[in-house]
Amino acid sequence: MIEIKTEKQRSAPWKKIKLVVMILVIVLAALYVPAKFFAVKFTNAGTKLYDQGRYEEAMAEFRRALRVYPWFKPARTQLAELEKFVKDHPRRPDVRFVPTPRDVVDKMLEMAKVTKDDILYDLGCGDGRIVVTAAKRYGCKAVGYDIDPRRVEESLENVKKNKVGDLVRIEQRDIFTLDLSEASVVTLYLLPRLNVRLIPQLEKLKPGSRIVSHDFDMKGVEPDEVVALTPKRGKFEHKVYLWTTPLKKIKEEASAENLETDETSSTSPTE
Ligand SMILES: C[S@@+](CC[C@H](N)C(=O)[O-])C[C@H]1O[C@@H](n2cnc3c(N)ncnc32)[C@H](O)[C@@H]1O
Repeated sequence: MIEIKTEKQRSAPWKKIKLVVMILVIVLAALYVPAKFFAVKFTNAGTKLYDQGRYEEAMAEFRRALRVYPWFKPARTQLAELEKFVKDHPRRPDVRFVPTPRDVVDKMLEMAKVTKDDILYDLGCGDGRIVVTAAKRYGCKAVGYDIDPRRVEESLENVKKNKVGDLVRIEQRDIFTLDLSEASVVTLYLLPRLNVRLIPQLEKLKPGSRIVSHDFDMKGVEPDEVVALTPKRGKFEHKVYLWTTPLKKIKEEASAENLETDETSSTSPTE
């Protein structure tokens, strides 16, 4: 039997296909427009950071752009260029490695009132002595960050030797690119101006977090406590500063005056 289709019946499948194609086009356009918008936004932010020399943060923005829109050429090109640049020019540490004496490490952890519920970050962890001691003595989680691959290796060995790998993590990172909001205790042995540079990041810590710094203050922020001690095996007096969050900022004029003072002492790390 021959089935005779009317004109209307013959064009019905085509209509369906047209409709599906139209829906597809609309869906793709609806996805494309916001994806492109955010890709441009993240890429512009990355370019700005790139120009400011904040390479790690810039790369993070380019990667974000590529996550929302993987074909976005400007982000792809700049990311590839920056990755090559960073590989060819590894960033030097802002301060050289000088270990904190054992007694001073103990005092820092004691002043920070570390408990097993804390998450401690050591910014510029050197050989990992602070994170290892915190995990061993208090059973807390701890993360050590250092920009120098040799220090990262030493810290990893230290963690292994002391069997605290379940509590301690070591990462090769530039401390000025870190999000510190997870930490409840931050330990520092850097330089006064580096402590000051960290203020915007430290301000993101949860209220009640503690920051302890070996030897160096943080101009513009009032410490809660300053303790001086001379290690049993040492000749020089060391200081430990404690701040709790929210940070108590000192008025502009007073802190600007203080910035004139000397930065380093003879037993201290230098650039
Ligand atoms: C004075 S040592 C302190 C080591 C350890 N915290 C201690 O108290 O024994 C400073 C450390 O910071 C590291 N450092 C310097 N600049 C850094 C940066 N931008 N990011 C990460 N680590 C950095 C250095 O490699 C060095 O190991």
